[in-house]
Amino acid sequence: MSNYLSRYLERLSWPGRRRTLVGMVLILMAVFAPVQTMRAEAAMNIDPVRYLPDLKVWVLNTERTSYMVGVNERNELQNIYWGEKLLRGGDLAAARSRPEHASFDSPETMTNIEYPGWGARYYNEPSLKVALADGDRDLVLHYVSHEIRGDTLVIRLKDIQYDLFVNLTYKVFAREDIIRKEASIENRTQQVVTVESAQSGAWYVPTGEGYRLTYLTGRWAGETQVVREPINPGMKVLESRRGNTSHQLNPWFAIDYCGEADEEHGRVWFGALGWSGNWKLVVEDSPASHQVRVTGGYNDFDFAWPLKPGENLSTPPYYGGYSGRGFGEASRLIHRLEINEILPDHAAPHPRPVLYNSWEATEFNVNEEGQKALADKAAKIGVELFVMDDGWFGRRNDDHAGLGDWTVNPQKFPNGLKPLISYVNGLGMDFGLWFEPEMVNPDSDLYRKHPDWAMNFPGRPRSEARNQLILNMAREEVKEYIFTVLDKMISENNIKYIKWDMNRHFGEPGWPEAPMAEQKGIWVKYVRNVYEIIDRLRVAHPMLAIEACSGGGGRVDLGILERVNEVWTSDNTEAFDRLRIQEGFSLAYAAKIMSAWVTDVPNMNGRSTPLKFRFLVAMQGALGIGANLNKWSGEDFDLATKMVSYYKRIRETVQQGNLYRLFSPREGELTANEYVSADGKQVVLFAFLHSQQFLRPAPTIYLRGLDENARYRIKTIDNKLMKPEGHGVVPGGVTETVSGPFLMRHGLNLALTGDFDSTSLELERVE
Ligand code: GLA
Repeated sequence: MSNYLSRYLERLSWPGRRRTLVGMVLILMAVFAPVQTMRAEAAMNIDPVRYLPDLKVWVLNTERTSYMVGVNERNELQNIYWGEKLLRGGDLAAARSRPEHASFDSPETMTNIEYPGWGARYYNEPSLKVALADGDRDLVLHYVSHEIRGDTLVIRLKDIQYDLFVNLTYKVFAREDIIRKEASIENRTQQVVTVESAQSGAWYVPTGEGYRLTYLTGRWAGETQVVREPINPGMKVLESRRGNTSHQLNPWFAIDYCGEADEEHGRVWFGALGWSGNWKLVVEDSPASHQVRVTGGYNDFDFAWPLKPGENLSTPPYYGGYSGRGFGEASRLIHRLEINEILPDHAAPHPRPVLYNSWEATEFNVNEEGQKALADKAAKIGVELFVMDDGWFGRRNDDHAGLGDWTVNPQKFPNGLKPLISYVNGLGMDFGLWFEPEMVNPDSDLYRKHPDWAMNFPGRPRSEARNQLILNMAREEVKEYIFTVLDKMISENNIKYIKWDMNRHFGEPGWPEAPMAEQKGIWVKYVRNVYEIIDRLRVAHPMLAIEACSGGGGRVDLGILERVNEVWTSDNTEAFDRLRIQEGFSLAYAAKIMSAWVTDVPNMNGRSTPLKFRFLVAMQGALGIGANLNKWSGEDFDLATKMVSYYKRIRETVQQGNLYRLFSPREGELTANEYVSADGKQVVLFAFLHSQQFLRPAPTIYLRGLDENARYRIKTIDNKLMKPEGHGVVPGGVTETVSGPFLMRHGLNLALTGDFDSTSLELERVE
């Protein structure tokens, strides 16, 4: 071929040769260009992070989504796209800053700057605001360089004048369709730079108006209530100024377009911040650009963080995800992220044990004999972890004294905790213990010895809440003391689980021992030190499990969840209220994180529900029992034993499977949730009738997420499943098999009647 070609070319004149060669090159390009494009497109879709140098664009790819940023002609890092996956390289555009609208709407403000500094003519919520020692407060960040390490992209920005750098780190969680952003602010100048606002970044949804916001609000005993409202021009601030995550607002959001999304359909952008201190999410709709963004990070209220030359400040992780299949899928994605990537046992996820906690039975009145008696009963119903709550230490007979004195109370436990723990272990259960490490009662030996350890502004009142003050965990000696005390207790006793409580918020957050310029740093330093203690405990005691609690669900966020196995959802254990608390919780957090107890009735709101209803509600999370077992009847024990053994059969599906919220407790008379195991082999349905009126039958339940080609064997625990033909009920036990399509299209009918009736079905896929 090449000989033939050279002989042919020799016969031609030079212009003829040139034309022929050019023609051949063009033919070859035409033949191979699509192949190359296809290769580039394939790589674009496979690589989690891809840089396209011609466009100066980075594409972050998850399995079903794309996220794009690029450098625009002003050298700013600009957000370009976030949503459904872009499949073709040719669809990608370079970043172009938007022109000014008038002299009042500058290009900086019109453009979706990925990590905006406050400076020049920027009027939206900035991601970073600084003040330099020389008085300069202007900050304009431009692109410098980038680095790609597998699923991680680091983009380096720098102020146009000063050696002030920001490293933005993106990590792609491909299977979960989630991206994590973090920022690190680096002072390479020769002067002190005071950071006045440090955000982790901003999530931009496509330009437009008519978006809707979903978020979680609440109060003590009424956490994680769902709110949905239109996003209008201006800012909506979700935040905590209380020192911890708070019951009042949770650092999670979801946004859908024009209210088009429901549980199963529609585009939903969602995000969550991993920080257990003062946080802030600013949902901002800029009127000029019709742009909705959610900026999140440390709360800048009462915040200042001086960076000396050479120092840096890193921000909390800020997660963002996209679901093209409604709020249900958005929840399943974030649950998967928590289970596979965040929780301390993510490398080898294991189900949570069934626990017993004595708090509601005994309150502060704990002692060796009493706890042993409860342990006997708990073991009989199948409990695996026995937790002793408040009251075992110092002079703790009520909530007026003892916090801070973490030594065993000698009247209640004359021989220490060892006899109780070995008794509990002898019954086949692990032992867990309650602590509230960050607190001190003024009536305690610790406070008498170290009154300065409590957070305070010198000479001013120290406001108590629940008769307690808060230790300044930002102080190194306090942190070390608390670590040593906990480490000693856990090392000397066979403690497999601790419940880490925090029963008040900050007050008078003074830190007089620190240099004046650093005192506002207390909000961040405190939380970092709490994290550090937990991290060190985990290293020292790898088998230790931890439950975070703050008067119920006051410390629930993706930051604490890197360190604790589960959280106490709410001090409100009333089962009907819990349906709503748990629904809101499930929007953002997986079932295995959610401690849920069966307690006695009438509950705190005076309501009584049947024991079976209470069990089935609690079985939708990490099941615990907090009732006074000394008062239970034989029938109660029989039912509890049956329920606990049923739970053990289905818990892996509930805790680690895929949740489908079928009927919301906010909307009608029925609540129903379905859980499908990760391998699809087991399906569990829970259904709760609130209060039947006018003899209305419970609505048909259409199952979701089943295999179209499989059949399922339904196992009932009672006689609440109606026969498909609509007459009579299926007797308790095993039924015939039913097809996936039948269950999803024809659905199931339940014979639920009256007040607080409930049932659960287990479905097994027949191979
Ligand atoms: C908080 C917790 C409860 C219990 C008490 C003990 O209120 O939420 O579960 O541990 O403290 O004082």
